[in-house]
Amino acid sequence: MALRTLLTRKTLTAAPLGVRCLQTVSLPDLPYDYGDLEPAISAEIMQLHHHKHHQTYITNYNKALEQLDGAIAKGDASTVVKLQSAIKFNGGGHVNHSIFWKNLAPVRQGGGEPPKGSLGWAVDNHFDSLEALIQKMNAEGAALQGSGWVWLGLDKEFKRLVVETTPNQDPLVTKGPNLVPLLGIDVWEHAYYLQYKNVRPDYLKNIWKVINWKYASEVYDRECL
Ligand SMILES: [Fe+2]
Repeated sequence: MALRTLLTRKTLTAAPLGVRCLQTVSLPDLPYDYGDLEPAISAEIMQLHHHKHHQTYITNYNKALEQLDGAIAKGDASTVVKLQSAIKFNGGGHVNHSIFWKNLAPVRQGGGEPPKGSLGWAVDNHFDSLEALIQKMNAEGAALQGSGWVWLGLDKEFKRLVVETTPNQDPLVTKGPNLVPLLGIDVWEHAYYLQYKNVRPDYLKNIWKVINWKYASEVYDRECL
């Protein structure tokens, strides 16, 4: 049976050579209630999206990790390789959704307020205006075939903002090792279908009313300045 030990960072450091540690992940709490983003995003969508969809990625990621642990212990290279796609998909789902929840905020807590400070300046400098950036992200999000994400990211190497899309649950870092996600918008149907049906552009138009630019600015300042 695979050794499965949950250790704190402190004890992890002290673990003797040869002892492997497996750290699973759990569903993060939302910093607001499910109904707090209405009318832009309904409470029903938020509850299903967080409690069911995100939880499923976590459950499957943890299961794949445990299988990986067992395969490594047995030196089963074939299974180790086979598990990579499940780890990428479900781990990516956990990573992306953990960012997404922080990218949203109720209007009364500043949701939808334009970015200020250095990020506000960078948006104007790179895209001419916030409106132009929103148009670009909405166009790329609407055009993305199937399921995926549209991102505003920071290229840490060149200190510039980028707009990218990723398919499925690929995190932004799959588009470049220096890319840091500032803002990710989920364009999977599960993010909008119950409210917007098949009209993804309407979802994209309304989500900006609850975008948490304060969080994006904090990440930008931390990573760029
Ligand atoms: Fe999602």
